[in-house]
Amino acid sequence: MGVDSGLPDFRGTEGFWRAYPPYERLGLKFEEIADPVHFADDPALAWGFYGHRLGLYRATVPHEGFSILRSWGARVFTSNVDGQFQKAGFADVAEVHGSIHHVQCVEPCTDDIWECSFDVAVDPETMRAVDPLPSCPNCGGLARPNILMFGDWGWVPHRSQAQLDALTEWRRSQRKLVVIEIGAGSAVPTVRRQAELASAASGALIRINPREPEVRHGRGVSLPVNALEALTALARAIGRTCP
Ligand SMILES: NC(=O)c1ccc[n+]([C@@H]2O[C@H](COP(=O)([O-])OP(=O)(O)OC[C@H]3O[C@@H](n4cnc5c(N)ncnc54)[C@H](O)[C@@H]3O)[C@@H](O)[C@H]2O)c1
Ligand SMILES: [Zn+2]
Repeated sequence: MGVDSGLPDFRGTEGFWRAYPPYERLGLKFEEIADPVHFADDPALAWGFYGHRLGLYRATVPHEGFSILRSWGARVFTSNVDGQFQKAGFADVAEVHGSIHHVQCVEPCTDDIWECSFDVAVDPETMRAVDPLPSCPNCGGLARPNILMFGDWGWVPHRSQAQLDALTEWRRSQRKLVVIEIGAGSAVPTVRRQAELASAASGALIRINPREPEVRHGRGVSLPVNALEALTALARAIGRTCP
């Protein structure tokens, strides 16, 4: 969804390195830099990646497709951590992998989660964060984003869990649910599986994806185009049939 607002996806190691050339020089893949171990071993390297993304996502303006979804009364389930749906005015978002706009203790010493109220300066040449790094107000140790990383046993999940519970509750009250899946990759299939599950009863799945749009067993409709283009075309078609 964010790609059409100008954000990079991390599609394959080459895609990741195109977005972040310094990691190519260091030979680090997305799965390797998004590993919580760096917050203990090399905090400036770890915060370099997340601090840069925090600045990027704060500076990004959500594209028109977000407003189109809002006008349909959509509820959001996302693996994006960028906060773009909230920025576009969505009140209820289920962020299954957490949010970069929230932090927790690295330990963690408590289950507390705080909103990010700081900027992290990052040297673009080295992708290393510059001191001072965000700290935990309880124990004074290092803070980290409240994002589920790879092989992550320290993530504090209650914020995301409460969002997911609210979404499940809402879904129970929906009789005619249409699921619109947008840019859900197959490498980390969390969103794909959720979309298939949520549309299993109705068969009403619209899969929008320019590169991997196939639906299984004819269960749904496949739109092999970009998010903004697909949403704009759907809005136009609905406007024609339901003025
Ligand atoms: N902005 C963010 O919060 C952010 C950014 C990168 C990755 N991540 C997370 O990291 C994990 C892996 O990420 P990834 O980037 O490798 O995802 P991925 O491998 O799941 O690939 C991205 C998907 O987006 C599709 N896509 C690309 N451009 C599109 C467009 N304009 N419109 C619609 N679909 C488009 C691609 O075909 C692909 O299926 C995921 O959980 C993802 O959510 C989050
Ligand atoms: Zn702490």
